[in-house]
Amino acid sequence: MTREPAAAAPATRVRPGDDPAAVAAAAAIIRGGGLVAFPTETVYGLGANALDPVAVAGIFEAKGRPRFDPLIVHLADPGELARWADPDDAVDPRVVRLVAALWPGPLTLVLRKRPLIPGIVTAGLPTVGLRTPDHPVARALIAAAGVPIAAPSANRFGRLSPTRAAHVVRQLGGRVGLVLDGGPSRVGVESTVVLLAAGRAALLRPGGVPAEAIEALVGPLELISDGQAEAAALAPGRSGAHYAPGPPLEVVPAGRRIVPAHRGERIGLLAASDAGLERAARIAGRAGMSFAAVEVLAPGGDPVRSAARLFDALHALDEAGVDRIVAQPVPEHGLGRAVMDRLRRAALDRAEG
Ligand code: TXA
Ligand code: MG
Repeated sequence: MTREPAAAAPATRVRPGDDPAAVAAAAAIIRGGGLVAFPTETVYGLGANALDPVAVAGIFEAKGRPRFDPLIVHLADPGELARWADPDDAVDPRVVRLVAALWPGPLTLVLRKRPLIPGIVTAGLPTVGLRTPDHPVARALIAAAGVPIAAPSANRFGRLSPTRAAHVVRQLGGRVGLVLDGGPSRVGVESTVVLLAAGRAALLRPGGVPAEAIEALVGPLELISDGQAEAAALAPGRSGAHYAPGPPLEVVPAGRRIVPAHRGERIGLLAASDAGLERAARIAGRAGMSFAAVEVLAPGGDPVRSAARLFDALHALDEAGVDRIVAQPVPEHGLGRAVMDRLRRAALDRAEG
């Protein structure tokens, strides 16, 4: 998918994240102003020293990411929040409650920032997204680097997020010198992003912590939807298409018949469950068609398992060389909300052109 000019691209090394020497080498790269890809419990991140604007510029360069989209700053320990967030926001009882209950974990808190965080990290916004990842390799790396690490997901802009070291190499090989391998990401979808600055409480992105769990601790969250006037200012990363696999993707209910666009079209099915697969296969069989490749998100349709499998399954369908991916919708509760958010955005990629 992503072709690199063969000559200039430096080699990308993959080293085990549980090797202290590899973590030390990665930390030295971060301190020296370079980039390292590393595992988190959600997806792999492409990290740089958050306090070094030139290093952070390298992230935007390697991803091909627009500068208006702010980065999350990763902390080794929940206790570091007060160093980087505005003092008032850091002691906001809602923030204190969420951090106590859900950090380390897949929750990003958007709070007013301290001046020492460079503007390039926050795309000029007065707020910063902060999180402590729940992955021993990520935390060891940040601690060894001795600086907070700014990191987006380690994919080319707009493409599928990586949940394995091999996914990172496929998209960013030659653009990052070192990938720490921490195995497959446990959660599989990105962190939930919540704005809690200056008295607001808004869900900016559904993710690895179900919105219900957050609302149980801080009360109802405002929903920032794409069309809303404030959306671009509050949640710049939300605009438009994202998470796109190579082939076009559409979300189609299990009961609907899928019609090939032409004879021999290779259609890949992302089934929500074994039951969904059976239903789709039966309907297809009656029409004399079959799927070129099939992935099942979770046999019983469990939302946590679905989230963990989502990007893996999409990478697999992409690699199977299908012409089109048809994805079955999943129920929108718990992590199902994050799964549907990613599927809809992946579908937008082609719908919007
Ligand atoms: O799980 C994750 O969050 C992963 C891992 C690596 O930590 N990171 C990740 O980063 O998904 P990225 O850059 O792909 O997505 C970050 C999202 C974007 O939608 C961005 O717009 C939003 O967080 N964000 C970051 N800082 C923000 C801020 N100050 N205000 C509003 N949105 C912010
Ligand atoms: Mg991303």
